[in-house]
Amino acid sequence: MDDLELEDIALALVAPSKGILAADESTGTIKKRFDTINTVSTADSRRDYRELLFSAKGVGDYISGAILYDETLRQTAKDGRPLVRLMMDQGIIPGIKVDTGAKPLAFADGELVTEGLDGLRDRLNEYRQLGARFAKWRAVISIGNGNPSEYCINVNAHALARYAALCQEAGLVPIVEPEVLMDGDHDIDECYAVTETALKTVFDELYKQRVVLEQMLLKPNMVISGTDCPVQADVEEVASKTMYCFEQTVPAAVPGIVFLSGGQSEKQATEHLNAMNQMGKHPWEISYSFGRALQASALATWQGKAENVSAAQAAFLHRAKLTSAARDGEYSTDME
Ligand code: 13P
Repeated sequence: MDDLELEDIALALVAPSKGILAADESTGTIKKRFDTINTVSTADSRRDYRELLFSAKGVGDYISGAILYDETLRQTAKDGRPLVRLMMDQGIIPGIKVDTGAKPLAFADGELVTEGLDGLRDRLNEYRQLGARFAKWRAVISIGNGNPSEYCINVNAHALARYAALCQEAGLVPIVEPEVLMDGDHDIDECYAVTETALKTVFDELYKQRVVLEQMLLKPNMVISGTDCPVQADVEEVASKTMYCFEQTVPAAVPGIVFLSGGQSEKQATEHLNAMNQMGKHPWEISYSFGRALQASALATWQGKAENVSAAQAAFLHRAKLTSAARDGEYSTDME
């Protein structure tokens, strides 16, 4: 795969009106989601749920790519087609989560470092053969109790850059995800300061490790008040502080910024995305890579029951349509 192709994939993922569906919940995380609808998590129920999402008719109008977990990339739909083929038939580019999770960081109380670099080159080559064209690695940074430490930010940034370089070498577009968590009672300015430091450190490492900025996407948190902060910043403040933070830290050569939703409600995440796009033209495309904020209604409607599949697909399509409108700055709450 030549250079142009990776740039084309990155641009296709942030095409107008489109964004990414994060459906890469690990087996542990999807179990937690299924617990909320009293559904047993098995390889088959996980397959049924993902098939429901990818086969919703017309979803390719709003979803450019979907991030999968290893198991899903290898599963087949009920009609025997690989799920990857079913996605591609809807115009959705397959992506793959390649980190193996955030684990306790040595000598850093309560902080995490993301693992998965050992053997990554071989895994990336296999994933590409299985149809993946982009990848994701999530680093987790939490605020509170004097954290994050510089140590935690540095080791996570170093690992993100090692992953990103390996992806580009293997012909996959890396999505670089340094997530500053919403959990805590910190205010929006503290989130701003930590996000700014994390992004500066990440781009410094990407530069040192020769990552080509045109061939990657950034998946960050929004700059937002901590969930338990007594004073919650409004939509305009979130949008303006988030964009200002990125203007200070994200080079214009990066084609797109695709936000995670991070525990925001569907409506909240959509309103924030919309406000950022309504601010006018930015150096990068401003789009989405939502998990919960695209799936919450669909999951609640499905309830693990075959008879609810059509209704769940309708709920998913509705949410995807509104999120797509926000990606273009054309959403309003009366569309809900
Ligand atoms: P949320 O949008 O639910 O945060 O999930 C996105 C994601 O992929 C986190 O890694």
